[in-house]
Amino acid sequence: MAAITSVVDLAMDGDVAVITIDSPPVNALSADVRDGLDGAFRAIAANPALKAAVLVCAGRTFIAGADISEFGKPPRGASLHAVQDAMEESAVPVVAAIHGTALGGGLEVALCAHYRVSDAKAKFGLPEVKLGLLPGAGGTQRLPRVVGAKKALEMVTSGAQMGAKDALAAGLVDEIVEGDLTAGAIAFARRIVAEGRPLKKVRDDTSKLGGDAAALAPMFADFRQSHARAFKGFDAPEANIKCIEAAVALPFEEGMKVERSEFMKLMSGLQATAQRHVFFAERQAAKIDGLDPKTELLPVKSVGIIGAGTMGGGIAMNFLSVGIPVTIVETKQEALDRGVAVIRRNYENSAKKGRFSMEEVEARMGRLTPTLALEDLKDADLIIEAVFENMDIKKDIFGKLDTIARPGAILASNTSYLNVDEIAASTTRPESVVGTHFFSPANVMRLLEVVRGARTSPQVLATAMATGKAIGKIGVVSGVCHGFIGNRMLGARQEQANKLILEGARPADVDRVLTDFGFPMGPFQMADLAGLDIGWSAETSKGVTVRDRLCEAGLRGQKNGKGFYDYDADRNRTPSPVAEAIILDYAAEKGINRRSIDDQEILERCLYPMVNEGAKILDEGMAQRASDVDIVWINGYGWPVYRGGPMFWAEHDAGRDTIAAALERMGMDVSPKLKSGW
Ligand code: 3HC
Repeated sequence: MAAITSVVDLAMDGDVAVITIDSPPVNALSADVRDGLDGAFRAIAANPALKAAVLVCAGRTFIAGADISEFGKPPRGASLHAVQDAMEESAVPVVAAIHGTALGGGLEVALCAHYRVSDAKAKFGLPEVKLGLLPGAGGTQRLPRVVGAKKALEMVTSGAQMGAKDALAAGLVDEIVEGDLTAGAIAFARRIVAEGRPLKKVRDDTSKLGGDAAALAPMFADFRQSHARAFKGFDAPEANIKCIEAAVALPFEEGMKVERSEFMKLMSGLQATAQRHVFFAERQAAKIDGLDPKTELLPVKSVGIIGAGTMGGGIAMNFLSVGIPVTIVETKQEALDRGVAVIRRNYENSAKKGRFSMEEVEARMGRLTPTLALEDLKDADLIIEAVFENMDIKKDIFGKLDTIARPGAILASNTSYLNVDEIAASTTRPESVVGTHFFSPANVMRLLEVVRGARTSPQVLATAMATGKAIGKIGVVSGVCHGFIGNRMLGARQEQANKLILEGARPADVDRVLTDFGFPMGPFQMADLAGLDIGWSAETSKGVTVRDRLCEAGLRGQKNGKGFYDYDADRNRTPSPVAEAIILDYAAEKGINRRSIDDQEILERCLYPMVNEGAKILDEGMAQRASDVDIVWINGYGWPVYRGGPMFWAEHDAGRDTIAAALERMGMDVSPKLKSGW
């Protein structure tokens, strides 16, 4: 075996060359890999004795794409296009042998091979759109020539992967190899040579596109229309569509030019920088400062959940879905039955949508043990309390758990605001206590704030983060402060939103400005959805806030069709005149002079204080890093991913200095980090 570079080897198996890429963790196409491939194809071209070449990867996967960490840096090494050309123009057939995930540039390289074989578990995809990009190495021109324009369109705009079986049916893979992949690929290569099969070049075959430009025009129009909502705000999907259109309408080289120019536009834009930031930020969030990555994890083989309401039920589903048994506790049989019924209904609805079978529903429900006895949690490895947000109740529960739970069990609270240290102090084992703040609906939302108490043990913290990952969440570590990272920042936004509607903006204006920015809904739509009467009761209402008055007037939000908006049976909304009158009266009573407020002011007043709060969270060490704050807002509150999160946006778009100056003008206390950087 001859090393071409430190990460690419070339070996001979008789008259078949075997190129092996071994560049952990995911064999991304770094400069070293490209140089290695360049050298290998030169060596193969210079060796007339060779009959075929096989390209295979060591480790967990075939090439998972371009090396994202090189983006935005000066180019180095052989160009990917040159390597692909050398491969496609090779005088002997090249066979790509694929395992793991052939993604992005990885699949684009494989599409330059004359034949592709894979193992049965391999997956194929062009996920560039998720990075705000499009496949820039011929993927938009070659993939439709293999799987058809329609399928390619779906794949490039969603980033969805195709499994080996479908890939075989679509002709993306020529053979699925049983047993050793390299040996199978070599045997396949020998066979095609023996059979005298041609050097199949994907670029030359337009027979599978599915029609010409005129025939496919309605398909593109439908696709744009049916996805308009999902693609709103994003630049990359439309650029991807244009490239697939070019693949249909233009000769290969011309299509490549369109791809190149669209790729460069996206690459130099802020959205791609933002989405790349999010990619790395997500992975960074899993790393816990000051914690040995080898910290031994505690077992989580059974879970107890206290509270079968919306949150408790949603949390339970996460565990049931991945095979972990759950005991769920309520104080009243009726509430318990209702909670269990909701879980069942959610699963049945998913089954009806074809996500899994009815047997699977039963399997999941079979892992659930409902009970009225807290004592039944005595053997649970992890107990999550998800009851009403009240410190006394939580302390009482944790005090009881202290006497019930087995030694070493993790005691977690799903509190969204309260002091985890105070909760922990009601036990004799504060080292076992941690916050696990889920977001509603807890079976869907990906964010999990893991709240590290002053005395939470490293093992408990590491286990909480690992458990989050096991149930498909993105965990972010937060320190103990009121509302943790997400709700604390939300509070800063809500405070301004509430002031704005008294000073002259209408709730619908505030909501529109924020949805135009890219949030799925604005603060008043959110309030209506959550219910205006959360935490409100007629007996104790003091009528001191707008919200109190709305509730007193019978406005409860979407649940009774009346809130800041009126809702019809289809949930279409129109601004509520009743709410408006209440707001105007309230403002008059407080002597507030209403004025016209423009969209820019609404945006700045809602978002700048939020960024400031995020910076204060960093000042106080409550978040480990600015990118963790971004991950919280993207995954828990609908911050548009193409804007990279509030801290990224402040740094790269709005400008920290601009924000700091505006906050000073508003008379707000500006975070030191907002001025100095994070
Ligand atoms: N470039 C650089 N680093 C990458 C990478 C890439 N394409 N893909 C993954 N990594 C790194 C991750 O940052 C992580 O690093 P860390 O351990 O230091 O945090 C490590 O590899 C492992 O990644 P994961 O934690 O994500 O590992 P998983 O096993 O869960 O997932 C994967 C593996 C499915 C390959 C996943 O990493 C992934 O989806 N990667 C991105 C794939 C992608 O987007 N490819 C397209 C790139 S753009 C492109 O190809 C442009 C071309 O068209 C010109």
